[in-house]
Amino acid sequence: MSKILITGGAGYIGSMLCTRLIELGHEVTTVDLLKYDKSSLNHLFFNKKFKLINDDVRKKSLMKKLINQNDFIIPLAALVGAPLCEKFKKEAVTTNLGVIKNLCKQVTKKNKVIFLTTNSGYGIGEKNKFCDENSPLKPISLYGKTKCDGEYLIRKKIKNSVCFRLATVFGNSYRMRTDLLVNNFVYKSLKEKKLVLFEPHFRRNFIHIRDVIEAIVFTIKNFNKLRNDVYNLGLSSANISKIMLAKKIKKKNKKLMIKIIKNKKDPDKRDYFVSNKKIEKKGFKAKISLDDGIEELIKVFSNSDKKILNNY
Ligand SMILES: NC(=O)c1ccc[n+]([C@@H]2O[C@H](COP(=O)([O-])OP(=O)(O)OC[C@H]3O[C@@H](n4cnc5c(N)ncnc54)[C@H](O)[C@@H]3O)[C@@H](O)[C@H]2O)c1
Repeated sequence: MSKILITGGAGYIGSMLCTRLIELGHEVTTVDLLKYDKSSLNHLFFNKKFKLINDDVRKKSLMKKLINQNDFIIPLAALVGAPLCEKFKKEAVTTNLGVIKNLCKQVTKKNKVIFLTTNSGYGIGEKNKFCDENSPLKPISLYGKTKCDGEYLIRKKIKNSVCFRLATVFGNSYRMRTDLLVNNFVYKSLKEKKLVLFEPHFRRNFIHIRDVIEAIVFTIKNFNKLRNDVYNLGLSSANISKIMLAKKIKKKNKKLMIKIIKNKKDPDKRDYFVSNKKIEKKGFKAKISLDDGIEELIKVFSNSDKKILNNY
């Protein structure tokens, strides 16, 4: 069993990851400021192998001590998404990039780092392109830039590292996000019964949150096989357009009205297929279908009266 430090462990991905790693018997410490859902880790406090430090990852002395005490480091703490980073530019740079610069200085030989970034810079302005890990990343938002720069630094400075470029994540979590495309469409289809689409043919790649978690579990088990490299991480059967996604949701929620606005540009320029062959060849393949995820989300949003928080 390993000693694992996860920053941002109370977040959308972090809360699911902490839970799974504790279930597997690992010792998990997380540092999180609990900016959003303050109860997303409550179910773990009973377990003596779990520790939450309610503090700021930008504190260098705190991080130095924790990095020394742990084997695996999974830095998830960040301001996530373009709108949030635009709103708090300085905090976005110090958290998303400053902390990674610091990590590169503080890691020791025993540390193994697993870093998640976004694949959103692929394919901008490159219609019909199948992107692999060699395709250039051209992030247009501050969020995308901080994450790409973070990946660049980690790959340059930490050989004991594995980086994943994630597709858009969907599915339920202890800290829910409704700004992610699939979650957002299902949420709106139930609450507003209407989806308004611009440039509906734009394609994206998706992945269920539980597949992201299993990819990290796989990486912990097979670190030497994967180390010192970067991999796209998405569900290969889920390279689909926005209109195809909306129609999938309509199949399960017949009352939904889909409205397409012609001649209006979507500020989100992503339009590309992503190849996930590199990680699949190493032995990990995402499995959970969009249909299963949509069914899950319909149940979550239909039954929950919890106020769903967004990053906006
Ligand atoms: N969800 C996705 O689709 C996706 C895709 C690609 C990459 N990622 C990456 O995965 C990571 C987690 O994303 P998420 O979706 O779980 O986001 P999230 O917003 O749900 O979680 C981020 C967590 O970081 C914490 N945090 C922020 N600033 C902090 C600070 N200074 N000190 C301590 N804690 C702080 C927040 O309280 C929050 O709990 C991010 O690094 C993100 O870039 C996510």
